Amino acid sequence: MTKVAYSILASNFLEIKEDVLKMEQAGVDLLHLDIMDGCFVDNITFGSQLVQNIKEETRLPLDCHLMVEKPEKIINQLIEIEVDMISIHVESQAEIQRCIKTIKEADIKVGLVLNPNTSAKVIEPYLSKVDFVLQMSVYPGYGGQKFMSSTMENVKWLNSYRKKHNLTYDIEVDGGVDRHTSTECIESGADILVSGSYLQKSIYLEHALHSLKK
Ligand code: DX5
Ligand code: ZN
Repeated sequence: MTKVAYSILASNFLEIKEDVLKMEQAGVDLLHLDIMDGCFVDNITFGSQLVQNIKEETRLPLDCHLMVEKPEKIINQLIEIEVDMISIHVESQAEIQRCIKTIKEADIKVGLVLNPNTSAKVIEPYLSKVDFVLQMSVYPGYGGQKFMSSTMENVKWLNSYRKKHNLTYDIEVDGGVDRHTSTECIESGADILVSGSYLQKSIYLEHALHSLKK
């Protein structure tokens, strides 16, 4: 069953609490939190304080996508908050092996993120150790961009790789996901779809959610 994560990047930040409650009520499965440092990507979003505040308002699992050059410090803060999922970019300066170990030891699901132009083969050595892989279907940094179909090659590869090697990691797709592009994601093997703008703009949320999962 496909899961949907709402990306709060699509919210007016003064209305995050209302949006979170609205999404929770409509049946969203996860909350996707895009942490950006203005260095790994141009944009700056928020840090652990907002994550803590959100944690206090919702029971939805928190999926933290770290678009930061050096994730080690923020990882420790997120472990303290007891978030549910943390993913780090393979293109960052993170010591991948060490970050995976730290996150796993805290009993939090760990994921690796691939930019649109990064081949999934780069993370092959880690695939038996991660709980999920996050495939970017837009260039990271901003919401509301157009879905890149070319990134589905990685999703298909990851899907067949896990079947072949009996692995159980989830595949998450992030960027430009709407009721049209979701079909391609699911057919390629995605288990979790991140959606910001599409859900934010939808008037009938339950409907919109259903259309993503179909
Ligand atoms: C982009 C972020 C995405 C983004 C998705 O850097 O990682 O999570 O918020 O938003 P939409 O669905 O608007 O593309
Ligand atoms: Zn994201």
